[in-house]
Amino acid sequence: MAQPSRMWIGSRVARMAWLPLCLLLVACHVDMYDQPRYKPNQTSAFFSDQRAMRPPVENTVAMGSFDPDSPLLTGKVNGELATELPMELTAELLEHGRTRYNAYCAPCHGLTGDGNGVIAYRGPLQVPSLHQDRLRTVAIGYFFDVITNGINRMYSYAARIPPEDRWAVAAYVRALQLSQYADVNDLTAEERQQLGAQ
Ligand code: HEC
Repeated sequence: MAQPSRMWIGSRVARMAWLPLCLLLVACHVDMYDQPRYKPNQTSAFFSDQRAMRPPVENTVAMGSFDPDSPLLTGKVNGELATELPMELTAELLEHGRTRYNAYCAPCHGLTGDGNGVIAYRGPLQVPSLHQDRLRTVAIGYFFDVITNGINRMYSYAARIPPEDRWAVAAYVRALQLSQYADVNDLTAEERQQLGAQ
């Protein structure tokens, strides 16, 4: 019978030497892994309000969360509502806006923006249509502003929808408006022919 070569035995020994080293490393990990910590929404006897998750300190703004000169974060350019998106309008942006709108706005405003979402339909809340003339002609920054700050009976969505997503929703609201008031003259002659329009 052939004997295992010396090299073979040597490499086996070298490989086995890793085993205790690995075990040592795993053992190191446990101390840090099991350190005392709070899980989200747990209570804490340390704070008087018993919330382990601390709200931001009053009158403070997290770094990078607000810049008065940034249209992306304020919806404004030189203090005026922005009339253009602060990012490129793409099919992906609109599609993302559609998913956010359907999740956050449609329950009240309806999937088409007519104000007949399931909450408005079942409850006493009167939700305006997004297809009013006034809203069809406002600057797009207005939608960003309403989502960010809320308006009258509609509360702010700033804590739930990050700024980039608010713009995606604003763009989608514009697309919804267009879907109800598309002008046949905006189509090419060929497209009009396909519709059978003059
Ligand atoms: C819980 C229900 C509810 C949800 C959810 C909701 N809204 Fe509203 N929204 C309202 C009500 C109610 C008003 C009317 C506020 C008023 O004038 O009293 C309103 C008004 C508006 C207006 C019109 C403001 C004006 O000038 O008349 C816009 C635009 C708007 N919402 C956009 C949105 C968008 C975008 C979302 C999703 C991010 C959203 N809303 C989510 C209830 C809701």
